[in-house]
Amino acid sequence: DKYNYGMVGLGVMGRNLLYNIADNGFSIAGFDLDEEKVKELQEGATSEMKVKGSRTWEDFISVLETPRKIILMVPAGKPVDAVLESITPLLTKGDIVIDAGNSYFKDTNRRVADLAAKNLHFMGMGVSGGEKGARTGPSIMPGGDWEAFQLLKPMLEAISAKVDQEACTAYMGKDSAGNYVKMVHNGIEYAIMQLISEAYDLLKKGANLNNDQLYEVFREWNNGEMNSFLMEITRDIFQQKDSLTDGYLVDQILDKAGAKGTGKWTSEQAMEIGVSIPTIDIAVTSRILSAYKEERVQASQLYAKNEMTTPENTELFIKEVGDALYLATLISYAQGLALLVKASEEYNFQIPLKDVVKIWRGGCIIRSVLLEKFYSAYTQDPHLSNILLNKDIAVIVKEKINSLRKTAAFAASNGISSLGIQTALGYFDAYTTESLPVNLIQAQRDYFGAHTYQRIDREGIFHTSWETAKN
Ligand code: 6PG
Repeated sequence: DKYNYGMVGLGVMGRNLLYNIADNGFSIAGFDLDEEKVKELQEGATSEMKVKGSRTWEDFISVLETPRKIILMVPAGKPVDAVLESITPLLTKGDIVIDAGNSYFKDTNRRVADLAAKNLHFMGMGVSGGEKGARTGPSIMPGGDWEAFQLLKPMLEAISAKVDQEACTAYMGKDSAGNYVKMVHNGIEYAIMQLISEAYDLLKKGANLNNDQLYEVFREWNNGEMNSFLMEITRDIFQQKDSLTDGYLVDQILDKAGAKGTGKWTSEQAMEIGVSIPTIDIAVTSRILSAYKEERVQASQLYAKNEMTTPENTELFIKEVGDALYLATLISYAQGLALLVKASEEYNFQIPLKDVVKIWRGGCIIRSVLLEKFYSAYTQDPHLSNILLNKDIAVIVKEKINSLRKTAAFAASNGISSLGIQTALGYFDAYTTESLPVNLIQAQRDYFGAHTYQRIDREGIFHTSWETAKN
């Protein structure tokens, strides 16, 4: 009997996704160049699973039913091209290769075209939820050829996370839409993580909360309207004891953040197609700035901070920080979703925004109860250009905006770095301002470069010979 699916790459993510597929009654063959990993796959499989490990491409390809459906879970970039080079000569018309890694969407477009020339399908599919999600139910964002997607749909629905019995997977659009949506998911992930870290800093430095108290605050936040995966793991992080010292682990971790690139791509994309996503940008650049550890130490000695003003009412302060975090998080989603709206037009992806927020409700890293509100906003208007324009969302924003202002002001006046909070507020204030002072920028551009301007009172393009200063 032939196998229903193939999986290339048996690292933790690939193996876990493979077991998840096998658990759901599909037979699946796994391939890895590393003998150890193939062995581990066999050893970890239960007797009910129809699983086979292969170490040669010929064997692997020959045991798959046609049209073959081969999932790649290998690092983005060259490894994907290397796999394609090995397998495409062995594939036959109509076979489908699904890239489940965090590949750059433009790479996917190129591969789609390359494989199409050989009568093969190539699809980009975002998978979120980490190792555990892959094993027990991730959020899955497939895009590309619609007919090919139909062949995968039953399996994807079976293995994905469920919210109210609905699968956290849906067709994300044409070409590389699946990778694009996952990229933006990660950009939002960066922003939310940045904001949570700032709330932590404010509570720790501003209100002197210790790890046990922080645990309590995040537990309470997670139990209410701020319930989310990132809130939940943050809560638990404050409980983790260190095995090497007798303190908490979080206090021993060096404050330099890593990044694999998806956040940076999101920012680059937003600049490329002209979408304002400052809170995501700032999250990317904050990780970069965090790496200047030695310089920061030096500068902190040169520019000593003033003494901290303690909040008068700690309980109220915590509540305001919570509301600020909630609203700044909402604004970050708004920015990311606005990028998807524009990208959908720009690249003709036809991304169904309503389905995006629907399948982000479970399984993925940015799952949160807030997504329910976005889902109902897009249900009311599938073409909503910015979530902030929805009237139900506006009710929430109005409720929390003063807390965001007060928290931003507290951070600013006490020299607590809060790049994410400040930009979320700054974005909101700019987005909700009817007349921005860029009339002056236009005047300057026309003054020194004859770049022309438009007027508010009549149609057309204008240029003025500006008078030089009278002094
Ligand atoms: C997910 C994550 C996953 C990965 C990120 C981490 O959705 O499961 O986003 O894809 O953890 O790529 O990215 P950084 O290493 O850039 O923080």
